[in-house]
Order: sequence, then C-alpha cells, then structure tokens
Amino acid sequence: MESCVELPMDKTSPLPIPDDAVIFSMIQPTGVIHLGNFLGAINTWKQINDKKRPDQKIIYGIADLHALTIPKKDYSSQLKTNRMEAIATLLSCGINPQVSTINFQSMVGGYHTELFWYLSCLAPLGYLNRMTQWKDKKSGDQTKERLGLFAYPVLQAADIMIYKGTHVPVGDDQSQHLELTRYLSERFNAMYNVDYFPSAKTLYSKSKKIASLSNPSKKMSKSSEDRLSMIYVTDSPESIREKIKKAKTDSISDTFYFDPVERPGVSNLLEIVSGFQQKTMKEVEKDVSQLHDYRSLKEYVSDVIIESLAPIRSNYTKYTNDKSYLESVIQQGYESSQEIAHKNLTDIKKIIGLSNDF
Ligand code: TYM
Repeated sequence: MESCVELPMDKTSPLPIPDDAVIFSMIQPTGVIHLGNFLGAINTWKQINDKKRPDQKIIYGIADLHALTIPKKDYSSQLKTNRMEAIATLLSCGINPQVSTINFQSMVGGYHTELFWYLSCLAPLGYLNRMTQWKDKKSGDQTKERLGLFAYPVLQAADIMIYKGTHVPVGDDQSQHLELTRYLSERFNAMYNVDYFPSAKTLYSKSKKIASLSNPSKKMSKSSEDRLSMIYVTDSPESIREKIKKAKTDSISDTFYFDPVERPGVSNLLEIVSGFQQKTMKEVEKDVSQLHDYRSLKEYVSDVIIESLAPIRSNYTKYTNDKSYLESVIQQGYESSQEIAHKNLTDIKKIIGLSNDF
C-alpha cells in the first residue's frame, strides 16, 4: 500500500481519502505563516475541510509544545501572541471550526506527552540521529544540545498516533517524521502483538516544496533571517511586489518554463502561481507564454499572489479583533480532541499492561 499520496489539483475531483479517515496535522506557532506553509500544507487542510465526508474526523493543531524545542529567553509573551495569531491565521485561511477541530497541543498536552514517553521507550537513538531536521538544527556543542530538540520527532509521532491519525497533510520537509511515525506504529503493534495503530499516510499537495525567494536552492523557511526570502500570507500588496521584484531568477532566456534544475528561481515562481490557481504546470506555462521579460512575469506573479491573499488578509484583521470568538473555537476544539485522546490513551495503557482491571 502506498504510504504517500499526492492530492489532485482540480477542485472538482474527489479526494483519495476514505470515509472513515482520521485526518490530522499541526503547525508550529511561529507567527503568521508564509507561502510555503500555505501552499504546502494549509491550503490542503482547507481542501480536505471543504470536502469532508460525514464519518471523517479532521483535527488540526497548533504545535505549541514543539515551539519550546529551541528555548529562547523572555519568550512567554511572544509565544502567547504567536499562539493567538496561529489560530486567527488558520481561520482566516478558511479552516471552518464547525467542520474541523482546531486545538492547541498543550491543552491536551498530557495525552500527547504520555504517549510520547511510551514511544520513546521504542524509538532507536540511531534512527533519531539520522533525522535531517536534527542535523540542520543542532548546534554541534554537546553541552548546549537539548533532549527536546532531539526527541521532537517522537512527540510528533505521538501527536498523530494519540488520535489514531490515518492521513497527515504536510509539506515535503516532514516526510522523514512521517516515516518515523509509521515505524513506531509498526513497532508498537509488533511489540504488543496487536493491530491497534494504523499506518498513517502522508498527504502532499502539488506544491509540497516552496523555495526561498532569495535562494531557491533552499526551502522557504520561517527560521530564515532574510525578510526578502519569504512572503507572509498577511503581507501588504506593496511588500509582496517588492519581494517578488527582488526574487532571484536567471538570465537564461526571456521565455518562461518549468525547469527546477536549470531555472530554480523561475520554476519556484511558476510553482507558486500553480499552487494558488490550482492549475497544472502546463496550464501555467501556457498562461505565461506571452510574457517576454522579467518585469512582466514578476508583475503577473505578484498580481496572482495579491489577489489570492486579499481575503485572508482581511479575515485576519477581523479574527485578531475578536478574541472571544477565538477562545470559543479553542474551547470547542479542546473538548472534542480531549474526548478522543482520553479514550485512545485508556486503550493504549490497557494494551501496555498499565490498567488496574486485575
Ligand atoms: P511547521 O510549523 O514547520 O510547518 C507547517 C507545515 O508547513 C509545511 N511547510 C512547507 N511546505 C512547502 N514548502 C515549504 N517551504 C514549507 N515550509 C513549511 C510543513 O511541511 C508543515 O506541513 N513538525 C511540524 C509540526 C508538527 C506536526 C505534527 C505536523 C508537530 N506535530 C504532527 C504533522 C503532524 C512543523 O514544525 O511544521
């Protein structure tokens, strides 16, 4: 069985997700999201939200425990703001809390971290040591290295497994973490001789890897210090035009086509257009075939982004001004996710031998 599935672009096709699926994903609360988060993940979350079938369960979370893996001094008020902004962003992007549960990981944190412990007892150190995100983020100085950052992928597996998640929509950079999740599900089932945890499938959008605007050989990343490398979904039209104008391209030719190896900058811009318009690359190439200079291409790309983000931008102002609505969304999300997590953890403890029904 395929463990990774790419979702169709066209809005009318049904999604390859079964009726009894539990769809789960999370995002870290690191402020407003950028185009990579949006096109790689949140737009897919919305697509799934909009096509939800009656027996499917959808849970989208703000991974606020994960936000602590790189500790920062005097961070608590910033974290508080970031958490609120993250919820407002999800709502602004069109996730409907009447359809999908939206929660804060820390509110159901006891369940996630308890399962994290059980999985930690099964997770091989060598496997975690090979994780590319660990290799990228670790400082190399063992006196400063933290267990939380190293063990983070096991908590991510627990996030998914506590809800018995079957389908996880994420961008390309999460693929290794999803492989670990499948590995730990198998290990648990084999260890306790049960068929309890499903093997969670990775769901990708067509734009699973959006590159940095200033350095298209790297992914667009919130941890970059270069403000020109990313566009936030709430950026003003002027800021979007400026960033696209300065985006790195090439001087290969004045016709524009998709070739990520030879022309990574141009291809990234076309990828962004394709993601927003939900058009195939062939269609996008056809649309830009009459443009013959970078100025026109960049204006075209800016127009597409500005127009697509306009509703998100105005929704965002509306939601951040309505704190009591945000609180009600969170309370409702807490109650429904807590119910599932509680039931599953009770079953898991029974399987492990930690129940008192002697
Ligand atoms: P985070 O917060 O870094 O990113 C959130 C989502 O955005 C996707 N993404 C991208 N997609 C395409 N191009 C890019 N340049 C790009 N940058 C980010 C990510 O793949 C992700 O889907 N570890 C996770 C949060 C997490 C989680 C989970 C996810 C915690 N527990 C359980 C799924 C299931 C993270 O840090 O995502």
